[in-house]
Amino acid sequence: MFTLQTWIVQALFIFLTTESIGELIVPCAHIHPESSVVQLGSNFTAVCVLKEKCMNDYHVTANEIFWKTGRVTVPYEQYAVINRTASSVTFPNITLINALLTCNIRMFGQINRSVYGIRIISGLPPEKPKNLSCIVNEGKKMMCQWDPGRETHLETNYTLKSEWATEKFDDCKAKRDTPTSCTVDYPPVYFVNIEVWVEAENALGKVASDHINFDPIDKVKLNPPHILSVNSSKELSSILKLTWTDSRFKSFITLKYDIQYRTKDASTWNQVPPEDTSSTRSSFTVQDLKPFTEYVFRIRCMKEDGKGYWSDWSEEASGITYEDNIASF
Ligand SMILES: *[C@@H]1O[C@H](CO)[C@@H](O)[C@H](O)[C@H]1NC(C)=O
Ligand SMILES: *[C@@H]1O[C@H](CO)[C@@H](O)[C@H](O)[C@H]1NC(C)=O
Ligand SMILES: *[C@@H]1O[C@H](CO)[C@@H](O)[C@H](O)[C@H]1NC(C)=O
Ligand SMILES: *[C@@H]1O[C@H](CO)[C@@H](O)[C@H](O)[C@H]1NC(C)=O
Ligand SMILES: *[C@@H]1O[C@H](CO)[C@@H](O)[C@H](O)[C@H]1NC(C)=O
Ligand SMILES: *[C@@H]1O[C@H](CO)[C@@H](O)[C@H](O)[C@H]1NC(C)=O
Ligand SMILES: *[C@@H]1O[C@H](CO)[C@@H](O)[C@H](O)[C@H]1NC(C)=O
Repeated sequence: MFTLQTWIVQALFIFLTTESIGELIVPCAHIHPESSVVQLGSNFTAVCVLKEKCMNDYHVTANEIFWKTGRVTVPYEQYAVINRTASSVTFPNITLINALLTCNIRMFGQINRSVYGIRIISGLPPEKPKNLSCIVNEGKKMMCQWDPGRETHLETNYTLKSEWATEKFDDCKAKRDTPTSCTVDYPPVYFVNIEVWVEAENALGKVASDHINFDPIDKVKLNPPHILSVNSSKELSSILKLTWTDSRFKSFITLKYDIQYRTKDASTWNQVPPEDTSSTRSSFTVQDLKPFTEYVFRIRCMKEDGKGYWSDWSEEASGITYEDNIASF
């Protein structure tokens, strides 16, 4: 099955190549190099060598060769006749191009014929990927992203490599439409150090980023807590008690929280001091509130030591403080 598919792809490719060269059927000449990916700004030379039979049939020599990129004739100053059968063309500072470079002969009576063609594509080798970082969203697999640097103008493959002690994990090949990130295939591993890096490769070169070492537990972004209740107190009109359920991670790591609240109509949030919620818990009583007022709350969590990422904010939940006993008299 796989072999058959490969064969079809190759047949298709050959078909397209001859198709795009157009009128030429039997090659009357040859170009060196056969096809070329050229570095932008470099000095590129191609040589067209005519076959003896062709020269006899059409009564031409290398003097009658002219070159075209696509439909455009390359200026004669860029040609050099090497000998009776060969002519070269030089592009001293290649620009951005993806075109068919053809060797053509000018025959008697201003009739022109294209005798061979190669595709030239210009671009740049990949730059060393920078700023590699990884995240493990709770319940998902690890995702790493990086800054690929300047545009290469070429098909460039990015492969994320990772290994643990002596074991290598499967390569993660970035998809064509997201070349700056990759989500690994293996389930998350925790409490071990893994080494991760990214390799960039195209026709002009291959380069690897710096390696990074970390324990994936330090790259976790937890699911947000879920607020269960916001309860008032008959005894104290200035407090509301918030209860919530946490990420399943709380059974093996210590969490810290960030709680914010505002009155229903306010647009800015008040912050509960971080030191008050710096370890795993499932409720918190907010104080110094106004009596008989509706407050809105939200909460997020992360690993207590600050390694990793804050969860998204929870859904908001609201509650009303109890009436002031004195005021109700
Ligand atoms: C002409 O030059 C080409 C390219 O350098 C070479 O391949 C070919 O053999 C030469 N032909 C003759 C007749 O010297
Ligand atoms: C480009 O290469 C050709 C042949 O190798 C050489 O003659 C020419 O001086 C070079 N031009 C530049 C701008 O380097
Ligand atoms: C090549 O062309 C680019 C843009 O046209 C220009 O900036 C650069 O200086 C040129 N390089 C050389 C060696 O002429
Ligand atoms: C053949 O090419 C020459 C220059 O390369 C051009 O002047 C001439 O018009 C072309 N002839 C035809 C029939 O296209
Ligand atoms: C690296 O990435 C982080 C987060 O994506 C960003 O905040 C930071 O500015 C980047 N640093 C550089 C040097 O690009
Ligand atoms: C990029 O990856 C694809 C698929 O694995 C492969 O066919 C292609 O040759 C690679 N290209 C480069 C420049 O490495
Ligand atoms: C909050 O109030 C509800 C009823 O409104 C009650 O069922 C729940 O037990 C209370 N929770 C706490 C933590 O007091």
